[in-house]
Amino acid sequence: MNFWQKLKKPFYALAPLAGISDSAFRQICKEFGADVMYSEMASATAFFYDAKKRKNLDSSETLKLARFEGKERPFVVQLFGSEPEYFKVATELIHKQIKPDGIDINFGCPVKKVQKQGAGAALMADLKKSYKVIKATTESTDLPISIKTRTKAGDVDILRFLDYISDLDVKAIMIHGRTRAQMFSGDIDMAVIKKARDFFPGIIMANGGIYSYEDAMRVLNETEADGIGIARGALGKPWIFKALRTGQSVERQKKAVFKIAVKHAELAYTQKGKKGIIEMRKHLCWYIHGFPGASKKREELIRVSSLDDVKNILSE
Ligand SMILES: Cc1cc2nc3c(=O)[nH]c(=O)nc-3n(C[C@H](O)[C@H](O)[C@H](O)COP(=O)(O)O)c2cc1C
Repeated sequence: MNFWQKLKKPFYALAPLAGISDSAFRQICKEFGADVMYSEMASATAFFYDAKKRKNLDSSETLKLARFEGKERPFVVQLFGSEPEYFKVATELIHKQIKPDGIDINFGCPVKKVQKQGAGAALMADLKKSYKVIKATTESTDLPISIKTRTKAGDVDILRFLDYISDLDVKAIMIHGRTRAQMFSGDIDMAVIKKARDFFPGIIMANGGIYSYEDAMRVLNETEADGIGIARGALGKPWIFKALRTGQSVERQKKAVFKIAVKHAELAYTQKGKKGIIEMRKHLCWYIHGFPGASKKREELIRVSSLDDVKNILSE
């Protein structure tokens, strides 16, 4: 079933955030009304080798990364990689073991470690390989396939990319409105996202630099996208999804923020135990950012190792 077509427009997705958008964070975002959840990017290569070599897939870290709770639906697993065969095996495995609502392919990551494998934005720069990867993925499942791209990678701009893959069955695209060279800062190219509509019949999401209701409205107006992807705007502010719907400010009282931070930590602990609390350290620093005395609290929060530590520090 193509859930993308059923979303009420405009809709707001939590964009993938490696090392950040785990199930605990996604559940908190969902509570505030995020409409679609992306997993952290997971390696198609790792899935391939796990499927080939492991007898017991329960111990697969990659599979763990892709797991989710039913209440996170609609949930999309994002894959990165560059070998069509790996995407085929990974897609079949995810379909069977994870049962998400969709599978997404990463064409946008500009990080060196990913680029070196010919994946992420390096894959977008290689049209022929991109085509093969999408084809292998769409042919391996009846789940809807989506893609996440930049506006440009190497010589390939998004319009040429979409034109090249136009006969493939891609249901949705999230366009990070920056080129690969821009990495994570600089202006968003609204015009090219709007123009993408002439080359792509599916659902279009605009992404990049959205931190408030006003930002979201401006981007929706200028791009005429069906929805928006929020990444860094949700860090320490998962209620941004509610703010986008109601027009409220994203600023909140300290007491309310601390309560949400504790709830997030509880979820992280339930899911991952002590590891979850260690991983919470960065989230806790984002939650307290901007409050008076934040830098002193930060010193304590970067050392938390138990749920009680979190509760004690945030209740002081
Ligand atoms: C720490 C971090 C991790 C990210 N991880 C992923 C990822 O796993 N997959 C992906 O497609 N994009 C990833 N991105 C890109 C974001 O999804 C998003 O496209 C980008 O940050 C621009 O949106 P923003 O301005 O709302 O943050 C990541 C970005 C950051 C800052």
